[in-house]
Amino acid sequence: MNEPLQTAAALIRAGELVAFPTETVYGLGADAFNDSAIQKIYEAKGRPSSNPLIVHIAEVADLSLLTDEVGEQEQKLIAAFWPGPLTLVFQKKDTVSSLVTGGMNTVAVRMPAHSLALKLIKASGTPIAAPSANLSGKPSATHHAHVQGYFGDSILCLEGGATEHGLESTVLQIKNGVPHVYRLGSITPEDIERVLGIKPVFETKSEHSPGTHFKHYAPETQLEILEPEELIKKATVGGRKIGILASVEVLAQLPNELPHFDLGSQSDLLTIGSHVYSGLITLDALRLNKILVQSFPEQGLGLAIMDRLRRAAGEL
Ligand code: TXA
Ligand code: MG
Repeated sequence: MNEPLQTAAALIRAGELVAFPTETVYGLGADAFNDSAIQKIYEAKGRPSSNPLIVHIAEVADLSLLTDEVGEQEQKLIAAFWPGPLTLVFQKKDTVSSLVTGGMNTVAVRMPAHSLALKLIKASGTPIAAPSANLSGKPSATHHAHVQGYFGDSILCLEGGATEHGLESTVLQIKNGVPHVYRLGSITPEDIERVLGIKPVFETKSEHSPGTHFKHYAPETQLEILEPEELIKKATVGGRKIGILASVEVLAQLPNELPHFDLGSQSDLLTIGSHVYSGLITLDALRLNKILVQSFPEQGLGLAIMDRLRRAAGEL
């Protein structure tokens, strides 16, 4: 085992925090069964303690540490999507601290598809509770440099470069046989329907997922989301200190001297999604008056991308 991983696992066992890459975004982890360690997560992020955490496991068998109630439908979803960007909400065992679950009697669990994350959980010998590794209300970290920007050297971060998806996991609970989506992510409603044969219900703004109450993903700079044609018109009319967050196809139609961030090709939404937070963080640092953001069709992965952009723009 390499040295940073050993050091990180020792820190987790000692009740300290460690940041680590997953396939979605970087997580800020602590031993899920150590309340004083969990407390440190809320403090480091400035996160309200009523906003519950996701518990990360490395093997399906470890689910039994957290819940006794895994139904047939959850089993199908686990077989189809774990390890991967799907978080499932279960009735929690009494042994799971209410500090992890924000006082709720349910616990959110996922198995990340990233070898470093899985190795860290195994080496720590405990499930790891981890929110995204950003300060509360800031864009999630999709690169170890972002984690450093938020927490400096005060927290060890396992370095894994850029994350693959760049958007947080889909959060879902089966209630009375029906899938309820609390947060959109790379596992799309169509993916869920294909496995269960049932259309998911959207509760992305409901009281069922406390995290969605809090202001999220908010850069300092004002954002305006526009259809490609509108964006091109507005950007070329000018104005002082305007930045552009758009696909390579839209940027190709704009003067190169405009401050911009290239999200990738609009025909590849996985790449677009993986660049959203980097783009927001990079353009926000330029202290522009406004960022014009390209909108994407709201289907498939486009649903999750637009959800994050709208939240960043303060529309949701
Ligand atoms: O991709 C991800 O999920 C990343 C990586 C690190 O795994 N984690 C992440 O955690 O995004 P966080 O804390 O930023 O978001 C957790 C979300 C919140 O929206 C929260 O409300 C929801 O999960 N959640 C957690 N426990 C829940 C529960 N028991 N019931 C409903 N929603 C829950
Ligand atoms: Mg978060």
